[in-house]
Amino acid sequence: MSEQIIISGETKQAKYEALLPQIFALTESESSWIANLANTSAALKETFGFFWVGFYLVETEVLVLGPFQGPVACTRISFGKGVCGASWEQKNAILVPDVEAFPGHIACSSLSKSEVVVPLLKAGEVIGVLDVDGDKLNDFDEVDVKFLTQLCTWLVSLH
Ligand code: SME
Repeated sequence: MSEQIIISGETKQAKYEALLPQIFALTESESSWIANLANTSAALKETFGFFWVGFYLVETEVLVLGPFQGPVACTRISFGKGVCGASWEQKNAILVPDVEAFPGHIACSSLSKSEVVVPLLKAGEVIGVLDVDGDKLNDFDEVDVKFLTQLCTWLVSLH
């Protein structure tokens, strides 16, 4: 697999359908999980132009910033705090159409307007989260949740 992503598709769904097999191919034979998270962040950023996309990984009692693409971000998020911490606690994806309407949202950037967070679930435990931020309200929907969840399931299988 060459280290290149080919972006195709008119709709968001078509873009995800074209992108996911490329990420699978790019990551399946790489043994470094961190390298795979890094390339996954880059591929998502390159394909969709998300404002911020990256991973927070559980280290004992806290989520710690992992591979990401976008502006510098907060490094540590506690269990139950912010959207990421809530996704960790609930073991569920969380869609936030308007970050200002989410109680306890952690604003790493005032330019972030909406957000989707998907947990990395391994044997029923959260080992991290994938966090994607948009600079527009309502940037994400169930299509993002569906494909990002598939992506997280794949990444956990590599862990
Ligand atoms: N907004 C997130 C924090 C992480 S940054 O958006 C990159 C949250 O509320 O958990």
